[in-house]
Parts: sequence; structure tokens; C-alpha cells
Amino acid sequence: MKNCYSNIFTFNKKILKKTINNLNIGKVAALPTETVYGLGGNAYLKNSIKKIYLLKGRPKSNPLIIHYFKLEDVLGDIIVNKNFIKLYNRLCPGPITFILKKRKNSKTQSLACANLNTIAIRFPKHKVIRTILKHINYPLAMPSANRSTNVSPVKAKDILDEFKNKIEIIIDGGKCSIGIESTVLDLTSYPKILRPGIIGKKTIEKILKKKVKFSKNNKKIRSPGMMKKHYSPGIPVKINQNKYDGKSAFIYLGKKYKNKKNYFSLSKNNNMDEAASNLYNVFRLIKKRGYKKIQIAKIPKLGAGIAINDRIIRASKY
Ligand code: TXA
Ligand code: MG
Repeated sequence: MKNCYSNIFTFNKKILKKTINNLNIGKVAALPTETVYGLGGNAYLKNSIKKIYLLKGRPKSNPLIIHYFKLEDVLGDIIVNKNFIKLYNRLCPGPITFILKKRKNSKTQSLACANLNTIAIRFPKHKVIRTILKHINYPLAMPSANRSTNVSPVKAKDILDEFKNKIEIIIDGGKCSIGIESTVLDLTSYPKILRPGIIGKKTIEKILKKKVKFSKNNKKIRSPGMMKKHYSPGIPVKINQNKYDGKSAFIYLGKKYKNKKNYFSLSKNNNMDEAASNLYNVFRLIKKRGYKKIQIAKIPKLGAGIAINDRIIRASKY
């Protein structure tokens, strides 16, 4: 069934079939995951990958994440390692991406991996994307469904903001429950977090029974999420603010400024997971309301606060 918005569809058998037919022949579709909406294409077809880069305006040096249904499906693409298996068993499907060494005879397009000898893999949890992955016999290359450097979409309608009517099928899976992108963990050598997410360092360390590092190498782009300017709402963002300037939109945690004009709380109860899930939505709302600038109060670097700080620091590089 088509929603009142032209290309947005509710998920049912008919749209599942149509989406699969499109993906089979190299078309792309905007699909919900538990983190953010993705722009999915058949990872085995060069045309799909080219379309994804073109639509996003993304540099070809920035590799894509390849999405799978289950462990067996990924074995032809990766060199398995023990750390990956341990984490897979405990965290997948879920909001974590693993960087592994890529098999030479992998059928996944090398363009999707920016011609690197590594591959980013993820097993998403949202039931819509899982149903689709279950019914196809190839993985999906799927970056977040936004134009390069913009914030990721967390609602189906956000995709129209990004791409107008350029995408034939956008499947509505509701508001993404996590609301920020997956944790990206490099397992090609000593475990390193390249992009913080809801699954934190401590959780990974507990499972691996060893220390995990945060990557500090910002010069060499190991991943697009590590580019300095990224996750930009399109207006200037100032972080660690404690004084309201009287005209910007002011983002904070808690309920101190409840019902006050121009103040936007990420979580009334200071819940960091909830705050992360609201961040991009609040960015879009503020932009739509016509504000010219965003001020953000200091956000504690606790739990999901680490991922929030990563995103707002990059947003502030606008
Ligand atoms: O939650 C998510 O991960 C979402 C949903 C749609 O699954 N996808 C997403 O994709 O955020 P994207 O393209 O917007 O971000 C791609 C991330 C980069 O930040 C980077 O960390 C990683 O993928 N990446 C991909 N291939 C890599 C590689 N070979 N080495 C290092 N990083 C890689
Ligand atoms: Mg992205």
C-alpha cells in the first residue's frame, strides 16, 4: 500500500516482492534498520554500487557496509577470525559493524569496499530488513540513506528531504529505535573502534576479554564516518555551550527548560540511549523550523554519550 507520500510504502508481501525484483536487477531501495535508514543495493552488481555512490554524492574512496542475514552468508566474503565469532554470537543481529579481511574470491563488488582488501559487514536486526535479507541470495551494500555529509535519516519521510522522489521505493519501518549509526569495530588487527555507537567499548571488552582501543587516526580516512565534517544538519553547530545566545536553537539534556521556546531536550530523564535516538530527529526539526544556528550544552561522555559527542563534534565542523 502506498502512503500519502509518493514513494513511501508500508511493508507487506506485495512490496517485499517488488523490492526484491528491483534489487535483483540493480535498482536501489531505501530500507529501515534499527540504527538508521539505509540506501540498499545488490552487493554483487556493479551498477547498484555505482548508483549508491552517485545518489549519495559520496567519494568512491569511502567504502560501504555490506549487510547479511546470518553467519553462513558471510563466509564467502571474509577471512574468519575468533574475535569476530565471539562477538557475532553475542551481539548479532544488532547495531555493530565489523571490519575484516576480505576474501580474494568474494563476489561482493570491490568498488563497494573502495578496492580495499578489507570489508565492513553487519547483520541488522530490524524485522523489515531481516525479512528482505532472508529472501535474497546476495548481501546488500547499504550506507545511510542521506546525501554525503548530512545527518542520517531516522524516519521514512527524512529520505524525501534527502533525495526528493529519486528513489522508487522507500519502505516505512517507523522511527529507528537506536537512531544513530552502528558501532564500527576494526578486527583486522588489534580490536579498534573506528566509529562509536550504542554498543560500547566495555561491552566489547567483556566479550573479548581484552582491552579495545578507540582509533585516533583521523588523517587517513579509514571510514567515511571518520571524516571531519560529517553528520551536518546544514547550519552551524556550537558544542559545550553554557550560555544561551537568545536566538539559536538550544539542545540539552533533562527538563530544566521544559516548554520554553527554542529549547530542545534530547531526553527528559537524562537517558543517554534515548538522547542518541533523538539527536538526528531534533537536528532535522530545528532545521525545518528555520533556525540559523544550533547551540548544544555539554553532553557527558557516558555510555551512548560517547557516540553522541563523536557525532556532534563532527556536526560542529560545518
Ligand atoms: O548503522 C549503520 O551502520 C548504517 C545502517 C544503514 O546499516 N549504515 C551506515 O553506513 O552508517 P555508512 O556508509 O553511512 O557508514 C559507513 C561506515 C563508515 O563510517 C566506516 O566506519 C565503515 O562504514 N567502513 C566501511 N568499509 C570499511 C573498511 N573497509 N574499513 C574501515 N571502515 C569501513
Ligand atoms: Mg553515513
